[in-house]
Amino acid sequence: MDNIRRLMFAVVMAIAYMAMGTEAQTIITAPKSNATMTNVTTASNVTTASNVTTASNVTTASNVTTASNVTTASNVTTASNVTTASNGTTAPNLIMAPVINTTVTALTDNIATNECGKTKLCAAKPENCDPAVAGSCFFVSAQQSSGQTFSFQLRGVSSGYIAVGLSTDSTQGGNDTTYVCANNNSNVNFFTALLDKGVLTINNTLPVDSVKGSVNGQIIQCTFSATVPNATVTRSTDTSFYLSISNGTFNSVTGTLGSPNTVLFSDKAVDLTSYNTNVLNSLNAAPSSSHAFGLSQAFLILLGVLGMMML
Ligand SMILES: *[C@@H]1O[C@H](CO)[C@@H](O)[C@H](O)[C@H]1NC(C)=O
Ligand SMILES: *[C@@H]1O[C@H](CO)[C@@H](O)[C@H](O)[C@H]1NC(C)=O
Ligand SMILES: *[C@@H]1O[C@H](CO)[C@@H](O)[C@H](O)[C@H]1NC(C)=O
Ligand SMILES: *[C@@H]1O[C@H](CO)[C@@H](O)[C@H](O)[C@H]1NC(C)=O
Ligand SMILES: *[C@@H]1O[C@H](CO)[C@@H](O)[C@H](O)[C@H]1NC(C)=O
Ligand SMILES: *[C@@H]1O[C@H](CO)[C@@H](O)[C@H](O)[C@H]1NC(C)=O
Ligand SMILES: *[C@@H]1O[C@H](CO)[C@@H](O)[C@H](O)[C@H]1NC(C)=O
Ligand SMILES: *[C@@H]1O[C@H](CO)[C@@H](O)[C@H](O)[C@H]1NC(C)=O
Ligand SMILES: *[C@@H]1O[C@H](CO)[C@@H](O)[C@H](O)[C@H]1NC(C)=O
Ligand SMILES: *[C@@H]1O[C@H](CO)[C@@H](O)[C@H](O)[C@H]1NC(C)=O
Ligand SMILES: *[C@@H]1O[C@H](CO)[C@@H](O)[C@H](O)[C@H]1NC(C)=O
Ligand SMILES: *[C@@H]1O[C@H](CO)[C@@H](O)[C@H](O)[C@H]1NC(C)=O
Repeated sequence: MDNIRRLMFAVVMAIAYMAMGTEAQTIITAPKSNATMTNVTTASNVTTASNVTTASNVTTASNVTTASNVTTASNVTTASNVTTASNGTTAPNLIMAPVINTTVTALTDNIATNECGKTKLCAAKPENCDPAVAGSCFFVSAQQSSGQTFSFQLRGVSSGYIAVGLSTDSTQGGNDTTYVCANNNSNVNFFTALLDKGVLTINNTLPVDSVKGSVNGQIIQCTFSATVPNATVTRSTDTSFYLSISNGTFNSVTGTLGSPNTVLFSDKAVDLTSYNTNVLNSLNAAPSSSHAFGLSQAFLILLGVLGMMML
């Protein structure tokens, strides 16, 4: 009992002295010499040291290895200049300002399907088409870099633009996140946009960088890194979306995008980190109409007419 009290006192003293700055250095070492310090488990709840902002120059206290489990001090984000002091993988909450860089550099390679299902999630129309060869193939892939940040590859056919959309519900629109690669006189222009009520509104406020693109006739290819929004509002995971590919017209003079023509819309929410998911195109069920509803309604009407004729 006595030893534990002594120990706690030592820990409190240590924290207090650290807060006072470099002078603490010598004093910290004093209690440490007593080998009983090895059982530092009591020091686990360092969360109380939340207001470490004053201890700006903690870098000198380099040998704090005994207090190894400081990971609990999660709220250190305010202690902005202490990042160097944490010799370790801690300091997780570095809030990085979102980078938005839509500058497009030349994409020299063809987008390919290798690694699909292994290190990237792929979706295509027609199913399993090869984006690396000429012809009508709409293709998108996503590979997680970290957290909500993904590398995307997008390939499609249009004289205007192609786009990949992320919807948190089974209905397109309602301001779905959309990444657009447009053909501007054989150069790729890149936009981030929101899709609502069939209208794509360019906002260029979504975190994106490392954009590359190429135009070859009607074939547009682009790759980019994007930090996608959290999908948790409606989904169980942050990274699950209804995935879409679309194309449309682009007026390079006014810089406006025509309404998207959807060529692929996943039949369910797809977790972008589950690379081996086979993304099925819900539009394949109703190829003659972009609205699956329209077809079934027509069918019902036809049934009704037939029924009346039989009476
Ligand atoms: C640790 O301190 C206690 C009490 O001060 C003392 O009895 C013990 O001998 C010390 N142990 C070492 C290794 O110095
Ligand atoms: C640390 O203390 C706990 C309980 O207080 C004990 O179970 C454990 O064996 C101790 N570990 C060491 C390394 O002394
Ligand atoms: C740390 O303290 C918090 C509240 O202050 C408590 O809920 C938690 O159980 C403590 N954790 C440990 C490991 O003692
Ligand atoms: C931290 O300290 C600042 C100023 O010293 C004070 O305004 C703030 O309330 C403190 N925060 C906590 C969580 O104690
Ligand atoms: C930290 O201490 C070093 C030397 O001890 C000094 O050069 C530096 O200016 C100090 N930085 C701050 C922010 O106090
Ligand atoms: C930290 O302490 C260990 C042993 O206590 C020692 O071997 C090591 O050299 C020290 N490192 C620094 C940077 O002081
Ligand atoms: C840190 O604490 C966690 C749980 O609190 C424990 O599982 C882990 O082994 C500890 N790591 C070290 C290096 O003490
Ligand atoms: C971290 O601090 C923020 C605001 O100071 C607070 O809302 C949040 O609950 C804290 N988190 C933890 C784990 O203490
Ligand atoms: C952090 O420290 C650097 C240099 O030591 C200084 O330029 C910067 O202003 C400090 N930032 C804060 C938030 O104190
Ligand atoms: C951080 O700790 C690792 C091992 O735990 C050590 O190899 C490395 O030199 C340390 N770095 C600093 C800056 O103390
Ligand atoms: C979409 O965003 C616009 C502008 O921010 C807003 O006016 C509109 O209400 C939003 N629509 C939906 C469905 O959230
Ligand atoms: C934007 O990206 C381009 C190409 O990737 C790069 O050359 C440029 O330096 C970046 N601009 C900024 C401000 O980072």
